[in-house]
Amino acid sequence: MSAAPSKTAPGWTLARRTTLMNPSVIREILKVTERPGIISFAGGLPASETFAIEAFREACDAVLRNHGQAALQYAASEGFGPLREAVAAGLPWHPSPDQVLITSGSQQGLDLVAKVLIDADSPVLVEQPTYLGALMAFAPMEPQVHTVPCDADGVLPQALAEQASALRQAGKPARFAYLLPNFQNPTGRTLGVERRAQIAQVAQQHGLPLIEDNPYGDLWFDAPPPAPLAQHVPDGVIYLGSFSKILAPGLRLGFMVVPKALFPKLLQAKQAADLHTSGFSQRVAQHVLASGVQDQQVPRIRDLYRQRRDTMAQALQRYGAPLGVQWQVPTGGMFLWCRLPQPLSALHMLPQAVDAGVAYVPGAPFYVGQADDATLRLNFTNATPEQIEHGVALLCGVVKEALASSAQSPVSRTAA
Ligand SMILES: Cc1ncc(COP(=O)(O)O)c(C=O)c1O
Repeated sequence: MSAAPSKTAPGWTLARRTTLMNPSVIREILKVTERPGIISFAGGLPASETFAIEAFREACDAVLRNHGQAALQYAASEGFGPLREAVAAGLPWHPSPDQVLITSGSQQGLDLVAKVLIDADSPVLVEQPTYLGALMAFAPMEPQVHTVPCDADGVLPQALAEQASALRQAGKPARFAYLLPNFQNPTGRTLGVERRAQIAQVAQQHGLPLIEDNPYGDLWFDAPPPAPLAQHVPDGVIYLGSFSKILAPGLRLGFMVVPKALFPKLLQAKQAADLHTSGFSQRVAQHVLASGVQDQQVPRIRDLYRQRRDTMAQALQRYGAPLGVQWQVPTGGMFLWCRLPQPLSALHMLPQAVDAGVAYVPGAPFYVGQADDATLRLNFTNATPEQIEHGVALLCGVVKEALASSAQSPVSRTAA
C-alpha cells in the first residue's frame, strides 16, 4: 500500500508514510469549538477545576528546593525510580517496577507499541469502533487493521477467537489485539468479569498478545471495574496507563507495563523518540501522589463526573428520547455514545450544530471501514451542569430541525 513519495514544496520530498498520517478529526473539530460561546461536548478534556493546583505548586517548590539539579538534568529513559515503584505498587497484579516504562502520555505508549510490534501488512485486531488516537499511532507502520465485532458490553470473545484463529491458520498471526476494557473511548462501554476471563483464555489459547489501554479505569461512578486483563495474563499483555485523567493531561505523563522480554526493545524505541520523559514532571507527579492529595481528589472527580453524566442522561431523556435519539449510559469515564434517528448523519449535522452553538464528535472517524454514521460521542466532563442541560437542548433542537428537513427532502444516510 506504498504510495509514491510526494513533493509538497520545492526541494522537500515527503516520506511515503506521511500519506498515512492525517489530521486528527477531533483536533480539527476542537479548533472550531474554541470559538467563544460554543458549548463543546467534543474534546476529551477533564474538568480543569479538578486540577490540584496548590498541591502542584508545593510539589514544584519542594522538587526545585530539594532536588533542583537532578530534576533539571537529563534523566533515565526508563523513568524516575520512585514513580515507577509507585505505579507498580498501585497495580493489582503486582508487576515489578522494572517492567514499568514511564512515557510522555499513554499516547506515546501507543506510538512505541506501533514501532516495536508492527511491520507493513502485519495484522492487528481492534475493537469496532475504537480510540482514534490509536489508529493514528498505528497507521504509519502500515498494519492490516482487522475489526472485531463488539456489542454494548465490548468485544465478543468468540469473534476474537475466530479472527485470531483464522489469521493464524492463514500464516499471518495478529501481532496483537488492542483493547480498552474500561469506559471505552468512544463508546463508554466496559467489559464484564466473565468476558475478561474469556478474552484472557482466547489470548492464551491462540497465542494472541494484547495491548490493554486503560486511561479511564479510575473514573468509575458506582463500583470499580473488574480486574484488568493483565492480571489474567501478565506475560501476554502490554498495559498502558495515564496520569492525564486523575492528575492533569498537561503533565504529559503515562506509563506502560511491559513483559520483561519486551522491555529492552520498547526502551530503545523510547530513547530514539525522546531520550526520556520530563524528569521534572515525573518528580512533581511523584511528589503529588506521595502527598496523598489525590486520595481525596479522585473520589471528588468521580462525584463530579457522575453528576455531569446524570445531568446529560436526564437532558437526553427529556429532549432527545421523544425524537428517537438513543444513547448508552456509561458507568464511568468521560463519554456518552449516542445514535441519531434515521436518516440523520452525525457528520453532516455537525455544521448546523456548531451554528446553533453546540459541538460534538461524529462517531464515523472511530470506525475502521464501514462506519455507523448515525453515531456521535459526547463528552460530559468539561462542561458545567447548566451548559450540559442547555447544550443538549440545543443539540436536540438541531436534530428536530434536521429530521423535519429530511422529511421534506429525504436523503439516505452515507457511511463515512
Ligand atoms: C483510550 C485512550 N488512550 C490513550 C489516550 C492518550 O492519553 P494521554 O496521552 O493523555 O495519556 C487517550 C486520551 O484521551 C485515550 O482516550
